Amino acid sequence: MTYDFKIAAADPVTMYRDLTSALEGLMAGEPDPIANMANASALIFETLPDVNWVGFYRNVNDELVLGPFQGRPACIRMTFDQGVCGAAAKSRKVQRVQDVHSFPGHIACDTASNSEIVIPLIRDGELLGVLDIDSPKTARFTQEDEAGCVRLGEILSSAL
Ligand code: SME
Repeated sequence: MTYDFKIAAADPVTMYRDLTSALEGLMAGEPDPIANMANASALIFETLPDVNWVGFYRNVNDELVLGPFQGRPACIRMTFDQGVCGAAAKSRKVQRVQDVHSFPGHIACDTASNSEIVIPLIRDGELLGVLDIDSPKTARFTQEDEAGCVRLGEILSSAL
C-alpha cells in the first residue's frame, strides 16, 4: 500500500477539493485521533504552498495543548486568552489574520510567520481543539482558503 497523496498544483477550488478527498481517504476507518492529526498535518503541510507550520492544539480542560504538527517546535500550552489560537477557541470562530504582528497577544513560535488561519474544531457543540496554519507570507490566506480550511475542519472534527 502506498500513501502517495501528492496533489498537483491547481486553482484553489480544485486544490481544496483534492485535498479534502485525500484527507477523507487518509483517515477512513482509522479511529485513532493522534494518527489522524499526524497524517492530516503532514498532508496539509505538503499540499498548501507558502506555509511554515501546520498543526493542532487540543482542548484539554479548557487549555490549548500542542498536538501533532509539521514545522518548527512550538509553544506547548496556551490559554483561551492567549494568541490567535486562543481567540479561535474562545470565540469558536475562524481567525484569519493577515498580519500576525498587529494581532494583540499573538504568540510568535516561529519568527518567520507573518499570517495565520486558525479553525476551531467543534463536534456536537464540544470544542475539540483548533487547526493552526501559519505562513511566512503576509496576507497568505484568502476567503477561498478559509472556505477550504473550514471544510477540512469539518472532516477533522468528525474523525477526531
Ligand atoms: N501563532 C500562534 C501560536 C502557535 S504557533 O504559531 C505554532 C498563536 O498566536 O496562536
